[in-house]
Amino acid sequence: MNPNGAQQQTAAAVRPEVGLAFPTGFQWGAATAAYQIEGAAREDGRGPSIWDTFSSRPGAVLGGENGDVAVEHYRRYPQDIEIMSDLGLTAYRFSVSWPRVQPDGSGQVNEAGLDFYRRLVDELLAAGIQPWPTLYHWDLPQELEDAGGWPERDTAQRFADYAAHVHDALGDRVTNWMTINEPWCAAFLGYASGEHAPGRKEPAAAMRAAHHLLLGHGLAVCAIREQGPQARIGPAVNLYAISPASEAPEDHDAARRIDGLQNRLFLDALLHGRYPSDVLADVAGTGFADCVRDGDLTVISERIDLLGVNYYSRFTVSGLPGDATQAVSSPFSTESPWVGSDFARFVGTGRPVTGMGWDIDAPGLHEVLTRLHTDYPAVPLYITENGAGYEDDLNGDDTVHDHERIAYIDAHLRACHEAIADGVPLRGYFTWSLLDNFEWSWGYSKRFGLVYVDYATQRRVFKDSATWYAKVIRQGGLPG
Ligand code: NOJ
Repeated sequence: MNPNGAQQQTAAAVRPEVGLAFPTGFQWGAATAAYQIEGAAREDGRGPSIWDTFSSRPGAVLGGENGDVAVEHYRRYPQDIEIMSDLGLTAYRFSVSWPRVQPDGSGQVNEAGLDFYRRLVDELLAAGIQPWPTLYHWDLPQELEDAGGWPERDTAQRFADYAAHVHDALGDRVTNWMTINEPWCAAFLGYASGEHAPGRKEPAAAMRAAHHLLLGHGLAVCAIREQGPQARIGPAVNLYAISPASEAPEDHDAARRIDGLQNRLFLDALLHGRYPSDVLADVAGTGFADCVRDGDLTVISERIDLLGVNYYSRFTVSGLPGDATQAVSSPFSTESPWVGSDFARFVGTGRPVTGMGWDIDAPGLHEVLTRLHTDYPAVPLYITENGAGYEDDLNGDDTVHDHERIAYIDAHLRACHEAIADGVPLRGYFTWSLLDNFEWSWGYSKRFGLVYVDYATQRRVFKDSATWYAKVIRQGGLPG
């Protein structure tokens, strides 16, 4: 049932020409994350996370908003699973809230918290939808931050212990696991620019956080595989297409630096078992190498079964001093999340942008996917996030005409199709997001959902993009 009553077509009724068919078995999904949708921040023994603390700090989040209520998914998940069924999703990516499972971040497990995920997974499976849990989507238990957070090595071990507890509870029903989500954001927005929780502005600590997030990933892979050798596990990394603003050597070098810190730092560690030497040289002043111990990179590069790619945009960067009015902030931040404020300048290109101000560049997704295929060992790839945030309007007749989002997803799916045709082992696509939700420091001002949420009533309304995506899934592809 479509929540706003629009008529649903049955699969049998639709036999259009599908010009761009995706392979059989391709996963069609949507993604969310715990703090962004669940609400119920103090229910059933959940402990505080860094996002509870950060969002209560004046000025940290637009409008002083937080995830206390969010879209009440904790209570409304059965209705949300009905929505997923209406869309025809074959897979649903969500995250497990660490402070629900271990309120203090270590030790005692909170069974009431785990029970929520047991119910969620059971109902997804009953609806024929594959659960794809992510174990860390940025809600570090506050007690672990009080002990130093991700810049401390111990946090990585705590994460692996927590991952094992979750796998112990759900491993009999869940096959596909994502470990960490967007380690770049967790490290650099959390500990360098301070735009995300815990809001620290310590670039050297951000570098240590990046290493310990990766180490936590590797330790979690080992812990889960020991319990369940059949589990398929991998991280979700945010990758960008990156261009120099001009042919000037300074701009090329800026592109190399940003690609190094944004993409290769993570990919080389995960897939080649080493940090890129040029990046190590770029960040030499941070003391990064001192936190990397013998054997760490072997753990970090433990075999993965899948790689999640979150793709949104292209960065165009310059290493030349320039007119400040031409500079744009990085897509996430008004203050530099990079190591050193003159690390690179992000330059506006005049390309169309989403409501987040991010350049729309679908060919960049093809570029990222083919680059993964050529530069790294073959591993099944999944787009674990891709979508567009706008300030959508709900019309009086309960419609949301989000044509820009449809165009965005359509173009990026075409890029995926092209990559598959080029031999890239891309096995699925999860759009961000199923529902409008708490967009971190932007609060509720930016909407990424296929489904509109009226925050005053929590009513869910299909946007045009939801109806469109359901049709793509039913057809198994796009018109040519
Ligand atoms: C990155 C994150 O994983 C997700 O939480 C966020 O809402 C989207 N991308 C959009 O910014």
